[in-house]
Amino acid sequence: MSRDNRFSTRSVHGGELRVKPYHSLTTPIVQTSTFTFADTADLVAYKENENQDDRVEYGRYGNPTVAAVERKLADLDSGEEALLFSSGMAAITVTLLSVLSAGDHLVMTDDCYRRTRQFTTEFLPRFGILSTLVPVGDYAALEAAIQPNTRLLLSESPTNPYLRVVDVPRLVEIAHRHDLSTVIDSTFATPVNQRPLEFGVDLVIHSATKYLAGHNDLLAGAVIGSNEMIADLRETQGMVGAICDPHSAYLLLRGLKTLALRMARHNETGLQVALSLEGHPKVRRVYYPGLPSHPDHTTAGKQMSGFGGVVSFELDADLELTGRFVDALQIPSISPSLGGVESLVIQVAVVTYHELSSRERAELGIADALVRLAVGIEDADDLIADLHQALARM
Ligand SMILES: Cc1ncc(COP(=O)(O)O)c(C=O)c1O
Repeated sequence: MSRDNRFSTRSVHGGELRVKPYHSLTTPIVQTSTFTFADTADLVAYKENENQDDRVEYGRYGNPTVAAVERKLADLDSGEEALLFSSGMAAITVTLLSVLSAGDHLVMTDDCYRRTRQFTTEFLPRFGILSTLVPVGDYAALEAAIQPNTRLLLSESPTNPYLRVVDVPRLVEIAHRHDLSTVIDSTFATPVNQRPLEFGVDLVIHSATKYLAGHNDLLAGAVIGSNEMIADLRETQGMVGAICDPHSAYLLLRGLKTLALRMARHNETGLQVALSLEGHPKVRRVYYPGLPSHPDHTTAGKQMSGFGGVVSFELDADLELTGRFVDALQIPSISPSLGGVESLVIQVAVVTYHELSSRERAELGIADALVRLAVGIEDADDLIADLHQALARM
């Protein structure tokens, strides 16, 4: 499939063989743990790189269903190669463990998925890798945090849960001046809304569990970048074993075919919901990069073509009253994920930061009344009516 075709065409056909095994229209699930060789000569030829033709010897080193997803993702995100993982966290942790060594330092932006921050600030130091957190949007602080042993700049964009958008060309410019690698977790955007590799970022990471798969029914992660960088990560993955299984890969491949359609709907509904909440007397503030009131609205407009389906907002309420609002919602389910066809909602303080006190959460910038709504593909008017009836019952 030529990259001259447009996004929706490539999301359906990209990365998949034109003629597939058994003349199946869809890429089959190659459900096997290992692969066979006709005889010793066949195995020796394989080892000597003579008959590789997409062959692999063992399931931890590759699988044809997984490889089809990897080719599609590389195509959609404008990369040379992609590598699939068992989850988004597997993608993030294996990438950092593979790229960094003892004595290295990384700089990352502060608003991010909590587990990513935990991994860098609490786990990596055990291996002699330290990090500095800087506020998203403060490029002077980011540059000031760079040390002689800094190797990498890491950021989500948009961030979780405040939807901050990093100025990607500016980040890349700083990185190039200091000879650093750049990694963007682009989970909230997907390649439909933003393609950081086109701005010179080195590696893009996705929790494919979210929009890429799109149906809240699997976990997977992906990293996309140059052949050289992905080859190193593939080598590490072969040892660590954090691979995506063929069945999840098939579901992900299926989900990717409708990615453009789904994202158009998420973008549209996300904006409508954000507009309907902004200015409501019981809503203190809405965080959505598509709103002119968002601090990164201009940046987002320059590098994104849509703003996604996650809308965070702070109610004019305390912890308990916010819980009552969430409980009164009838369409979204209370669940800590996003990006699927079903709308999901969480009170961030309760789901992600439950064991912290209100003051500790405030220090991390997490308000008790912060709600993260991940709109699905239900009818926007129904979702808005549901939100407004729940606000009325607070
Ligand atoms: C921005 C972001 N990155 C990574 C992850 C981790 O992904 P996974 O749950 O697939 O491990 C999440 C999960 O919520 C996320 O929101």
